[in-house]
Amino acid sequence: MSDLIDTFGRVHTNLRISVTDRCNFRCVYCMPEEGMNWLHRSELLSYEEIARVVQVAASLGIRKLRLTGGEPMMRKDLPVLIEMLSKIDGIEEIAMTTNGFFLKGKARTLYEAGLQRINVSLDSMNSQKFKEMARRDALKEVLEGLEEVEKVPIRPIKLNCVVIRGYNDDEVIELAKLAREKPYVVRFLEFMPIGEEDGWSMERVVPSREIRERINEWKELRPIEVERGSTPSEMYTFADGVGKIGFISPVSEPFCAQCDRLRITSDGKLRNCLFAMEEMDLKSILRKGGKDELIRDVFLASVKAKKPGHLIGHKEFVRPEKTMSQIGG
Ligand code: 5AD
Ligand code: SF4
Repeated sequence: MSDLIDTFGRVHTNLRISVTDRCNFRCVYCMPEEGMNWLHRSELLSYEEIARVVQVAASLGIRKLRLTGGEPMMRKDLPVLIEMLSKIDGIEEIAMTTNGFFLKGKARTLYEAGLQRINVSLDSMNSQKFKEMARRDALKEVLEGLEEVEKVPIRPIKLNCVVIRGYNDDEVIELAKLAREKPYVVRFLEFMPIGEEDGWSMERVVPSREIRERINEWKELRPIEVERGSTPSEMYTFADGVGKIGFISPVSEPFCAQCDRLRITSDGKLRNCLFAMEEMDLKSILRKGGKDELIRDVFLASVKAKKPGHLIGHKEFVRPEKTMSQIGG
């Protein structure tokens, strides 16, 4: 039973935790090249604080966790946190979204700590293009990291490819090939307007349908059924049954009606939507010695206040000020 049911009947079982706002990349769709105001270490939740929040969240019905950032592996001793979280009653699954840079030499430790699933951002297989999009020359490290993950039973390994017209839209087939050649689920994400001005415009968004048609012309795709809610992506395989390709379409086909997620930002606020304009403060409760009951109330209030969905593409849309790296994607 979950207590985290909102006024639209959506049950929240999923909590995404941004463990740091810092990142060693500067992806064009996420943060500016320079001028990020990083949080001081003391402004981040400690591992003990995160574990305490998760304990309360689990008692309310949260079952799945995803660690994000920034780059979650920038946080020192991340496996220690994973191990703490994996011991919490009610938590069934721990996943991480990472840029993959630090995976080399760490995959086994992450697995042994309790990491079950992983999403790695990978927008290009061309090192020059990669460098243009991540503003770091790091394709090699990411691919090596992925190979290490293959050697441990962290599954599925999903790749997140944000497609931006004029950047990497000419590469979707190259990326789709990875789903056939490697044990990776390749997911294409529509570019979203988040954080400060990042050149987002409707023209830059490549609708999933367009990507799917392009891949389909190369090799036939057929849809596969997956339960929604657990993932916002529409899944396909190739006609011969080899490979899995996902399409995440927050812009062209919002999936807000199935949303089962809550988020904790890197500065310790509870956020009920990526595009929310309000957050509720957990950190001050934790640091003022507040009881679990108060943390509980914040979760219940946040879920109760959740809006039906975002308004991307409408004139009423207001861009959230926080970047994806501060909110946790
Ligand atoms: N639009 C779409 N996806 C984004 N991500 C970060 N910023 C954006 C954006 N503006 C992706 C990252 C990562 C995931 C958490 O979200 O590539 O894989
Ligand atoms: Fe870093 Fe991820 Fe943002 Fe890229 S999208 S800058 S890898 S936090």
